[in-house]
Amino acid sequence: MTEKSKDPRSFDLKQYSFPTEQIPRLSINDPEADRRISKALPVVLTDTNLVTSALHWDLDYLSKNIGDGEFVVHISKNKNFQYCDDKKSVNVKDFRMPTEKQDMKFSEFVEKLHSAKPGEDRLYLQQILHDTVGKRVISDFLGFNWHWVTRQQKTNNFGEMTSNLLLIGMEGNVTPGHYDEQENFFSQVRGYKRFVLFPPSQFACMYPYPIYHPCDRQSQVDFDNPDFTQFPKFKEACGMEAVVGPGDVLYIPMYWWHHVQSLPSHGYTISVTFWYKAGQAEKIEYPLKPQQKVAMMRNIEKMIHQALNNPSEMPEFMSSMTLGRYT
Ligand code: OGA
Ligand code: ZN
Repeated sequence: MTEKSKDPRSFDLKQYSFPTEQIPRLSINDPEADRRISKALPVVLTDTNLVTSALHWDLDYLSKNIGDGEFVVHISKNKNFQYCDDKKSVNVKDFRMPTEKQDMKFSEFVEKLHSAKPGEDRLYLQQILHDTVGKRVISDFLGFNWHWVTRQQKTNNFGEMTSNLLLIGMEGNVTPGHYDEQENFFSQVRGYKRFVLFPPSQFACMYPYPIYHPCDRQSQVDFDNPDFTQFPKFKEACGMEAVVGPGDVLYIPMYWWHHVQSLPSHGYTISVTFWYKAGQAEKIEYPLKPQQKVAMMRNIEKMIHQALNNPSEMPEFMSSMTLGRYT
């Protein structure tokens, strides 16, 4: 068997600088799977059949059937594709977006992907699926296991589904550590991805950028090569990891930090997200959960930012509020 066709779950993956435990891989028939989802704990589900109808997707098939709409493609000079909100870049003097974003036809993306050489720009297509796709892709989409995923949405009291993001990345691409404000049934279609997750209770180890910063929700720490001098509390971080392959679904609970790397297998990876809004808490129970505290911190930080109306006044304001009183 060649290295290329080997299941990357059996690869010798590089050890991170922090300890990790494996995220359990379970069948949907195992009651522990539902228990984990209901407790907002990550789990890899091996037999949801959520995207079975898309497991034949490859660049060739999609080129013929995805239609001639425009697709958002991120371009990076290195392996990292850090998400940045360009609307927030006015808040930071001389801010430069770490990646470039281009709209292009699917065929143009495929050409660029095929002609990409090591050491040159990397590409990552990240496009929300909508109804401009061709008939066959629509039919594959309708064949997703909506029955299972909608039942999960209902039983776990999630809000409405917001979007399905189609991700097509080159092997080696990294989405650096961040959290999302939505629940996600992350579905792997082609190739393998390695995930590292940290719970919301480790917020203080993660050093997120300020809320007004274009990299809001992103960790300042490079998980692949942490700078412990600048970010000493990252030494206390303790993660969970999993490699997902075709047909696997990783439940990424809202506010859980995650770092994602596409592993070498077919040259590229394909994934689809199922993002859901948070459910309304029926009643508030104390003590608050770590993720509720994170939400609270975000709201307070947003309020201060809005009221001051000047990001450069934030550091002094925040520290005078706590210094010598809460420190
Ligand atoms: C996500 C996510 C990144 C990736 O689905 O929330 O961050 O590279 N995905 O798959
Ligand atoms: Zn994410």
